[in-house]
Amino acid sequence: MPLKDRVLAVLEENKGKSVSGSEIAASVGMTRSAVWKAIKTLREEGYTIYAVTNRGYCLTDESDALTEPGIRSRLTTKTLGKHCDIFKTIDSTNSFAKSLAQLGGEHGSIIIAEQQTSGRGRMNRSYYSPGSAGAYFSIILRPKLSVEYSLMITSCAAVAVAEAVEKVTGLKTQIKWVNDIYVNGKKLCGILTEAAIDVENGGLDYAIIGIGLNVSNDSFPKELENIATSIYMETGKIFSRSQLIAEILNCLEVRLEQITDKGFIDEYRNRSNLIGHRISVTKNDVTEYAQCTGIDEFGRLLITTESGEEKQLNSGEVRLAD
Ligand code: BTN
Repeated sequence: MPLKDRVLAVLEENKGKSVSGSEIAASVGMTRSAVWKAIKTLREEGYTIYAVTNRGYCLTDESDALTEPGIRSRLTTKTLGKHCDIFKTIDSTNSFAKSLAQLGGEHGSIIIAEQQTSGRGRMNRSYYSPGSAGAYFSIILRPKLSVEYSLMITSCAAVAVAEAVEKVTGLKTQIKWVNDIYVNGKKLCGILTEAAIDVENGGLDYAIIGIGLNVSNDSFPKELENIATSIYMETGKIFSRSQLIAEILNCLEVRLEQITDKGFIDEYRNRSNLIGHRISVTKNDVTEYAQCTGIDEFGRLLITTESGEEKQLNSGEVRLAD
């Protein structure tokens, strides 16, 4: 790990507290003047680090810079996040990731943006992505999986995001099928998975998982204010987007390894906010009401319609109706 990332890791461990230059130097095995240079570089990258007289350096609690070292220093992954591009503004990280994948972009690459001008959601909707308020990022995956696993990738990503957010913030997260993350009845995060098929072998060529997590928004436009929330609005605290992204990647890598043995499904079910509830299901502009009875081992939603018919849904728009 580069020297400045090791210094950052020490400051992160002591976030909000002062650590002396000599303590940092001893723990990373470098001179105090090298520590000073590393701190200068970290400040240039956007970290707010105070020098407190006679006490040392202090990374502020609110320090929320979105930086590659901030992410890298917290990764425990083997492949996810090893290649990382961060943009100030981009149309859509998913669109960029798709172009990159078509040019051979490697498995695990991530594309992050401070702001998206044309963020995309499911069902061709736009995704609200204002500057510096959220973690908007896309991951290129090249899993050796057959096409039927596409739905499972998206459910697996939902589990990883729910777990990571809960771990970092302490918030109790739920999953609204297929892959929206909810906190206290409002949407905190949306996930858009797009996949391409390799026609020669019939398997997946690549999949793009796009994640839009509301982090420090203090309000939403009128049309979203009753349905969306942010980590800040739920906790009153600003959390590091670098930390959240890194933790999501850490959880995702572990969960992706469980796709074929379906080891993540129990957690997916446990976090469902639909099972046991009356829901509405809209498909091809037709809405029907049903009781949600469960989720099967392939991540399909099990419902019993009002006429008593049992169905398994692969896709569709569902809402809580009770
Ligand atoms: C949804 O809720 O409908 C899915 C929203 C997915 C939004 C993310 S933000 C990062 C990535 N880039 C996009 O354009 N969309 C996804």
